[in-house]
Amino acid sequence: MRRIPLIIDTDPGIDDAVAISFAMFHPEIDLRLITTVAGNVSVDKTTDNALKLVEFFDVDIPVARGCSEPLLKPLEDSSEIHGESGMGGFHFEKPSRTVLPVHAVEALREELVKSEEPVTLMPIAALTNIALLFKLYPETKEKVKEIVLMGGSLSRGNTTTAAEFNIFTDPEAAAIIFESGVKLTMIGLDVTSRAVLMQKEVKQIETMNRAGEMFAALFSHYRGGSMKTGLKMHDVCALAAIVQPELFDFADTHVEIETGKGPANGATVADLKMKYHTETNATVALDVHVEKFREWFLEMLEQTK
Ligand code: BDR
Ligand code: CA
Repeated sequence: MRRIPLIIDTDPGIDDAVAISFAMFHPEIDLRLITTVAGNVSVDKTTDNALKLVEFFDVDIPVARGCSEPLLKPLEDSSEIHGESGMGGFHFEKPSRTVLPVHAVEALREELVKSEEPVTLMPIAALTNIALLFKLYPETKEKVKEIVLMGGSLSRGNTTTAAEFNIFTDPEAAAIIFESGVKLTMIGLDVTSRAVLMQKEVKQIETMNRAGEMFAALFSHYRGGSMKTGLKMHDVCALAAIVQPELFDFADTHVEIETGKGPANGATVADLKMKYHTETNATVALDVHVEKFREWFLEMLEQTK
């Protein structure tokens, strides 16, 4: 079976942790590199968390530490959602593995250059590392098959009324990515907020295997939704869109990133009716089939060990 070469750029992050874990064990995914960035918590913490996951599953996937700050804005983290450490609630062993000796942007470049086939990028955090990669090494774009990202929203945001967290954190980086000409799919907050796990699934997950036990412990500290209204599996949706696109409805459109300093800063303005553009630059998710997503989630967990 031909597997999809994949790089995840991430800020774990509880929903990031689930997405990374599933990608590690998905039979059709060849996870080649994890790069970290500041976002939910500092880059030191997100890097430590990525190493903890690699160690927990005892898999040899390299981790490279990326940017500690957005391109222009100061970092405003999201520790109120993911806890002080970014992945609280479960006691991970201190990782014996260490990060690659190069910056994430260099690791991305090296991995892309040496790959025989184009690689899929799955950013589930602020787009700082990828934006720098494209600015420093524009030739690497040719080695990117597509970018499938969690971020933005076709309706309102979660950090401000207009903006979703990953795009709000680094709108200038997002603008570089959306204007890069690379094939791009955006799985936005309006869709991922519907991809929720209810208490019933969380109970089931807890007893399924050691990964499920770890997830359930993290979920007990996660403030992305609630047990009553459902826990939002934002970042997991990006992986689902790569391996199981039929779980979503999509449209091709043009998305502009608002970088002005006002209340729309970080908004992803989609021209769904193509009234203002003749060229599309993104495929956007419009909806998720929630019950099927939950079934898929449980299937994924079964093979995550
Ligand atoms: C996004 O923000 C982060 O807190 C989550 O991990 C996800 O990537 C949702 O807005
Ligand atoms: Ca994330």
